[in-house]
Amino acid sequence: MKIINVVGARPNFMKIAPIISEMKKYKEIESLLVHTGQHYDENMSRSFFDDLEIPRPDINLNVGSASHAIQTADIMIEFEKVCFKEKPDYVLVVGDVNSTIACALDAKKLGIKVIHIEAGLRSFDMKMPEEINRILTDQIADLLFITEEDAKVNLSNEGISPKKIHFVGNVMIDILIQNLRKCKKSNILKALALKEKEYSLLTLHRPSNVDSKEKLQKILQTLNEISEKIPIVFPIHPRTENMVQKFGLSEKIKCIKTIPPLGYLDFMRLIVGSKFVLTDSGGIQEETTYLKIPCLTMRENTERPITEFVGSNVIVGTDADKILSNVRMILSGNFKNSKIPKFWDGKASERIVKTILDDF
Ligand code: UD1
Repeated sequence: MKIINVVGARPNFMKIAPIISEMKKYKEIESLLVHTGQHYDENMSRSFFDDLEIPRPDINLNVGSASHAIQTADIMIEFEKVCFKEKPDYVLVVGDVNSTIACALDAKKLGIKVIHIEAGLRSFDMKMPEEINRILTDQIADLLFITEEDAKVNLSNEGISPKKIHFVGNVMIDILIQNLRKCKKSNILKALALKEKEYSLLTLHRPSNVDSKEKLQKILQTLNEISEKIPIVFPIHPRTENMVQKFGLSEKIKCIKTIPPLGYLDFMRLIVGSKFVLTDSGGIQEETTYLKIPCLTMRENTERPITEFVGSNVIVGTDADKILSNVRMILSGNFKNSKIPKFWDGKASERIVKTILDDF
């Protein structure tokens, strides 16, 4: 059986790592890794391969950054050539980035079975490029692996046969569990002069938050207020950094300790050591849920509702009052209790690979 595994952007790397190492246990599986090159900076890509011990990609499409249409089209043109040459039985895609839909669409039109990891998540916000990528990828996938049971309802509502859907848990948690001990060896806290549970960790990169000057300015104002109570450390995404420069907001960000994007182990160490996390990321809502670290998600919605209903996440949007009142609750020790969702147990990739073998 030949499987091409696809990665492109930063959040893909931690999802593919445990799947590839599980596949390597079976001699009947020949697995190839294709990197589309959607993310290419050392600290957005290569450092994850090193930290997570992912084998070097067999093929790199080197597409780089561009508008959605150009990026998606470039990936499709290059990945189609790979499919023609390699003739895989399956193409496995993860998550919801442009590389996910581009490669899924190529494969499906060539009659190759598509596997989608992290299927069925929905924010119901079609202004998010990821929501479009998720819906379209799920429509054409043959095997859909879900991380939470709500996803099954979403997929059924879109007419997807329950026979294709498999509830296996969360591969992001597999890799987190595998690396927890290792990440504790990181000396990032010392390097940044941070003390355990005496700082907050921030990530911010969604176009809806950072691509408008007014919105970004408003968020930075709230963050400045928080930083009067507890230091904030901010590994800044290149998109956000570009926008801060473009909008002339460098002064506004001075109270926040900005640092370049980090590798997986250093970043996980910062999450583990933090008092709470402020984010607009998807995956971080899940990681904090597993670690039971309070997470305030600065978005109006989430495609990962279990992190709020069961986990340690609260969707606070960008409303200053809501954010600040939750920060007060955390700092006074009155934040909600949380649990770890079903099957977030480190065995998702094992279940996935067994299901693929059964399907073949
Ligand atoms: C992409 C994903 C998003 C994910 C995020 C994680 C899509 C539609 N979006 O958004 O779901 O949460 O990755 O990071 O696929 N850039 C660099 N170096 C890099 C990569 C990007 O400088 O290695 C800069 C470029 O200016 C680029 C911009 O960041 O134009 C945005 O990159 P892009 O891949 O288009 O989207 P992200 O915002 O990273």
